[in-house]
Amino acid sequence: MRYVIGIDLGTSSVKLLLVDQNGLVCNEVSKDYPLIHKQSGYSEQNPDLWVEKTIEALRELLQQFKGDSQQIEGMSFSGQMHGLVLVDQEGKLLRNAILWNDTRTTEQCEEIYEMAGKERILMLAKNPALEGFTLPKLLWVKEHEPEIYRQIAHFMLPKDYLRYRLTGTISSELSDAAGTLLLDISKKIWSKEICESVGVDLAICPPLVKSDSFIGNITDEIAQRTGLPVTAKVFAGGADNACGAVGAGILKDGMTLCSIGTSGVILSYETASGKDYEGRVHYFNHAKENAYYAMGVTLSAGHSLDWYRRIFAGSRSFQELLSGIEGVPAGANGLLFTPYLVGERTPHADSNIRASFIGMDTSHSLPDFTRAILEGITFSLNESLSILRDSGKSITSIVSIGGGAKNSAWLQMQADIFDAEVSKLANEQGPGMGAAMLAAVGCGWFHSLEECAEVFIKTSEVYRPNEENVRKYKELFAIYQQVYSQTKSINDQLAAYRN
Ligand code: XUL
Repeated sequence: MRYVIGIDLGTSSVKLLLVDQNGLVCNEVSKDYPLIHKQSGYSEQNPDLWVEKTIEALRELLQQFKGDSQQIEGMSFSGQMHGLVLVDQEGKLLRNAILWNDTRTTEQCEEIYEMAGKERILMLAKNPALEGFTLPKLLWVKEHEPEIYRQIAHFMLPKDYLRYRLTGTISSELSDAAGTLLLDISKKIWSKEICESVGVDLAICPPLVKSDSFIGNITDEIAQRTGLPVTAKVFAGGADNACGAVGAGILKDGMTLCSIGTSGVILSYETASGKDYEGRVHYFNHAKENAYYAMGVTLSAGHSLDWYRRIFAGSRSFQELLSGIEGVPAGANGLLFTPYLVGERTPHADSNIRASFIGMDTSHSLPDFTRAILEGITFSLNESLSILRDSGKSITSIVSIGGGAKNSAWLQMQADIFDAEVSKLANEQGPGMGAAMLAAVGCGWFHSLEECAEVFIKTSEVYRPNEENVRKYKELFAIYQQVYSQTKSINDQLAAYRN
């Protein structure tokens, strides 16, 4: 038997999957690392920790592996998107990485439009200037840390930095480069026009590679420290959302994914680079060659549930917490939640908006609140779905992955709110599986990702929309959609009181 490793470099942990030729996960190891929040809106991480934790996890994976390590042929990566990693001429880190969920860059986003023109940005980068993206972070460093900016030889994205440290080769992979706002999405090259207009030297953008590109072998040092054979091949990998889509088989037109992790996304496969959503949803290069995807993002999806559990639900486990919701009718007895705990991306790109519970009543108990949280997260994702549908896309079935696929009542809720069939996978492993599939194709086990998906991915359950709930949720969704506009000015005023 031959094996590959999928490495998913997430926001809270790195998760490794050892996968065999049948797509079976033989072992998995994950290691956590902390987020650094120096002040409200700031979110950073130490990239050296990503590397050290990955090495530790690889060593553990190899120690637990009973077979012949020579049969581990290759590895690839999935990575948290948009994070800014800066290195100098020697490839040494210049500061902590500024992450996708850092919102300090509102001013820089405005400056980007002033310098490059909003229309040109939307035309070339296909996405609006959002706080989470990489370019605004780069400009923030230029303005606030000029000493560091002067020393930059390259900027990198998180998993590209990890791969560099495992191989010694600096490169930037396309599906992740798409989230920088510096890539010409259609031409698949760094945009000279954007770089020049915002004053970024094109030379700091690393050479571009495709998701399945062979980058090289691991270095001798990494082989020694992990127990991996020096022959282990390293393939570029993809953005976590692209890899999540690959790992869920979202590989042809009409296929749509709902992925609920810390953030939540609705992601739909696109065949053409020219589709124009006018920046209302993200538009990125897929990890499959010559393919794209449109995507809406709810910043606090699983994060809302996790926050609620920590603050309000004492020591209850997720399972205990969610077990109560089946007894609560759709609509949580008149309680609505909007999941804007850290601001929002889609459809309201607004770093000032904050969450609300609306309609609290003395009769409400914990299960009402839990149901309202899940409904609020799902309504938010439904806003992204509505944008795609309003543009003429027909979406009748959706694959659900992540935390949202772990509870049958929530899966049924997704089917009812999305008014679509929602399926769950038999052996869902998230973006790490997409990364393993890229390595499997890279190693030549399959001719294409589609061929690999035939073997690796199986559907286990399908949830069909319940007509009565669909009707009820359509009414509630219309009420939910009013909360943003009616709480916006209140939140703008409250912003001054946040620490
Ligand atoms: C996507 C985004 C998040 C991160 C999470 O645009 O910012 O989904 O990729 O890792």
